[in-house]
This record gives sequence, C-alpha cells and structure tokens, in this order.
Amino acid sequence: MLARLVLGLVIFDAAVTAPTLELINYDSETYDATLEELDNLYNYENVPIDQAEIEIVTVMPSGNKELLTPPPQTEDAQEEEEEEESTPRLIDGSSPQEPEFTGVLGPHTNEDDLRRIDLTSNLISEIDEDAFQKLPQLRELVLRDNKIRQLPELPTTLMFIDISHNRLGKKGIKQEAFKDMYDLHHLYLTDNNLDHIPLPLPENLRALHLQNNNILQMHEDTFCNVKNLTYIRKALEDIRLDGNPINLSKTPQAYMCLPRLPVGSLV
Ligand SMILES: *[C@@H]1O[C@H](CO)[C@@H](O)[C@H](O)[C@H]1NC(C)=O
Ligand SMILES: *[C@@H]1O[C@H](CO)[C@@H](O)[C@H](O)[C@H]1NC(C)=O
Repeated sequence: MLARLVLGLVIFDAAVTAPTLELINYDSETYDATLEELDNLYNYENVPIDQAEIEIVTVMPSGNKELLTPPPQTEDAQEEEEEEESTPRLIDGSSPQEPEFTGVLGPHTNEDDLRRIDLTSNLISEIDEDAFQKLPQLRELVLRDNKIRQLPELPTTLMFIDISHNRLGKKGIKQEAFKDMYDLHHLYLTDNNLDHIPLPLPENLRALHLQNNNILQMHEDTFCNVKNLTYIRKALEDIRLDGNPINLSKTPQAYMCLPRLPVGSLV
C-alpha cells in the first residue's frame, strides 16, 4: 500500500526535482494554482517518505531510462513490498530484464491507488496502448515537454490533463477521446501540431488551451448547440486558440453559449 503511494509521489517528485523544470513556462496563471489545489486534495505531502528515498529514483532529465516497472505480483508480494520501500523501483534502469531504453513508456498494471502521473521533460516518444488502462483512480496526467505523437486510450476518471509541448498531430488524439470524462476540468494541449479541436468536449471542462497548434477552422457547434439556443456551456471560461491560423470571425455563432470569447485571432 505504502509502496504504491510512494510510486505516485515518486513520479511527481522526480519531475519536480528535475533541474530543467525552471525553464518551463507555464501557459497560465491558473495552472500552478490548480496543481496546488489538487495537491491539497490528495495530500501527497503528508505521506511520510524521507528525502533519501526520493533521491534514489530521481532520473530526470538525463532520462535515458524511464520504463515503468510493474508492481510485484508474486506470492511473496509482502516481502517484495518491504524491499521496495527501501529502494523504490518504479523507474528502474538497472534491472537486467528490462529492454534497452527505447523511449517507450511501458504498461503498468493494477496501480490501484495511483492518482497522479507527472513525467514532465522526459524523452517519451511512444506510450503503450494499455499504459493507462488499469489505473482506476488516476486523476491527473501530466506529460508536458516530451516527444509524444500519439495518445493511447485514457482513463475517463481524469480531471486534469497536460500534454503540452509534444508532437501530437492530426491523428495524435483518438476520436472522442475526452467525451466520457465527466470530471475533466483542464485540458492543456498547447504547443503541439493539432489541426482540429478534439470533440466532443466534456460538459464540465473549464479550461481548454490549444495555443500554438495548427488549427485552421472550427464548426459553429464546436462549443455550442446551434439547434438549441437555450443551451449554455457555463463551465468553459478559458479557451485559448491564439497562435493558430484560425480566424475566429468566421464562426460568429460558435461562441454564443460561452461565458467568454475564446482568445485568438478575430481579424
Ligand atoms: C435545449 O437545451 C436545454 C439546456 O441544456 C435543455 O434543457 C433542453 O431540453 C434542450 N432542448 C432540446 C429541444 O433539446
Ligand atoms: C476573417 O473572417 C472575417 C469574416 O469572415 C473576414 O471578414 C476577414 O477578412 C477574415 N480575415 C482574414 C485575415 O482572413
């Protein structure tokens, strides 16, 4: 149990302690506030772990090994768990049975308590299709500043997604990828190569950041329902489309249900 909590923390801490983090320019004032809020919510800071343990697995940003090691599933689980508490093996480059580093984020199964994954500033280029499938508690997925071209299926429990500064293109996001994420509040996809707004957007979404992509157009009903003018999308207050070739003046009906106009080019 503790080992699993450690896993969650370790991923997060590895990112936080990465020296390159200072260079990252968060694209919103609210970003940091939100992360803090989430921190408080999950209270990771109260998990008693000494600094030494965290340092053992600090692998970034040299990041030449970043495969996730599955949790122990043998009959000796108890014994192995104790061992793991002294030397967490989440990101284990030295294990002989691991293949050479390939920039692939591997599957990790049955991480029942894992709520947050933060692998900011690594060299991740590929993610296994089932990498995030068995994470029933996953709330936050931060994969900023990697080389990801394609997202696997994501858990519908996610509240916060940041895949900014990656290489997501035309086919980088699955159809209707976010549709059933009823709790999703923040979707940050800044600095990719997306050519469309991923639809449909979940109803509770508050912030959609798509600046510096390659979006050329949208439909009148991307955000609103042109057939039902009483529909209001009241949660979505923060839409960023600046840095795209889109001309927002072409779809004047598209913002009628929104509390605020998207940020972007209106000329
Ligand atoms: C129009 O939208 C409102 C608010 O979402 C909803 O209550 C109503 O049922 C919708 N009407 C139709 C005809 O879909
Ligand atoms: C943007 O769209 C508006 C409305 O269609 C049009 O008048 C304007 O010329 C467009 N601007 C550019 C730069 O294409």
